[in-house]
Amino acid sequence: MVREWDPRTAPAAEIESFLDALNAVFAADLPEDPLWENGMLREYLCEVMPGERRISWIAQDEPSADGQPGRILGHTHVLLLGDIGVLEVMVHPAARRSGLGRKLIATAARRTYQEGFRSMGVEVIGDTPAVGFYEALGFVREYEEDRSVLRLGTVDWVALGEMAQGIGPGYRLEFCPGGPPDELIEAYAMAKAETRDIDDGDLDLRPSSHDPQRLRDSLNCLHRRGMKPYIVLAIEEKTGVVAGLTEVVVPAQHPTRADQWDTIVGQEHQGYGIDRAMKARMLFELRSVEPKLSEVQTWNARTNEAMRAVNADLGFQADREWYEYGVDVAELVHRLDAGS
Ligand SMILES: CC(C)(COP(=O)(O)OP(=O)(O)OC[C@H]1O[C@@H](n2cnc3c(N)ncnc32)[C@H](O)[C@@H]1OP(=O)(O)O)[C@@H](O)C(=O)NCCC(=O)NCCS
Repeated sequence: MVREWDPRTAPAAEIESFLDALNAVFAADLPEDPLWENGMLREYLCEVMPGERRISWIAQDEPSADGQPGRILGHTHVLLLGDIGVLEVMVHPAARRSGLGRKLIATAARRTYQEGFRSMGVEVIGDTPAVGFYEALGFVREYEEDRSVLRLGTVDWVALGEMAQGIGPGYRLEFCPGGPPDELIEAYAMAKAETRDIDDGDLDLRPSSHDPQRLRDSLNCLHRRGMKPYIVLAIEEKTGVVAGLTEVVVPAQHPTRADQWDTIVGQEHQGYGIDRAMKARMLFELRSVEPKLSEVQTWNARTNEAMRAVNADLGFQADREWYEYGVDVAELVHRLDAGS
């Protein structure tokens, strides 16, 4: 049975059962990834940005003979943001290929349609059953990138030290644990806004924040979800402008593996070694403030040759293909109704 689920009020045992199912999925589909921990997992599942809503459902096993609730076998949620519903579906490996995934997605799709949303998007990991699942349901692949992983144990710290120093004269780096300081929020948002118009064809399933208020909201939301942001800024000394920035998040749910997010260097500041220097400095800082951290993962579009070269110099190694698929919700509901 599929039922709507509110992780904010769910019993602790259900959060644990969700974690067990998620880790069984990781073990089956992404065996190289670290397992998740229950570090602020409830908050991770329920906190959202202002104006966004996440609606979740679970499917449970039958209760046991002594009346204990059944374990979670499947979960789906849709995050309603802007004009798109961002979907996630998982089914415990022990319960796959019996139509549960289809049942979960049908529930989420109908609700998304009722809420007035006409398109849905989903991130799909290459070389996993999810590719066949979404393609069988008529989802179309709209964007491709590659994930790569840096193992800190393999880093050449001497070479990295040279990269961190190799920034052009007139710029300095600043490390900002927790997010940019308040007096730099506007300059930071402006630096991010510069990339806003670059349409690289993705579905904006993780929109970034280009105005100061949205940026503050986004940082607050990260903290509430147990995702600690770290930022290195490059400041042009004569003007004080933010010439570049790089963002890494260390999630309480998998604190051994951090996520490298945006790295941006303003157009007129390119060619001064800022990108390499910022990323190298970030790794030094993370090594000292996050002793549990052993890996950093990042995602790059195939077309982003420059960033891929920087990452290769740092020691990142390509790991998995990562896709975004989209679908028209009405067509999906129709297809699912026709098939049921
Ligand atoms: C994708 C997923 C949700 C499918 O769940 P499921 O319950 O097995 O799916 P269903 O039984 O409803 O399958 C529906 C259809 O999808 C297609 N499909 C499902 N699994 C497939 C596979 N491994 N290969 C090819 N097609 C597949 C089939 O057409 C299937 O219909 P059929 O069984 O009648 O042939 C499940 O494999 C999963 O949880 N994967 C991990 C998701 C994920 O990556 N989460 C991110 C955190 S790691």
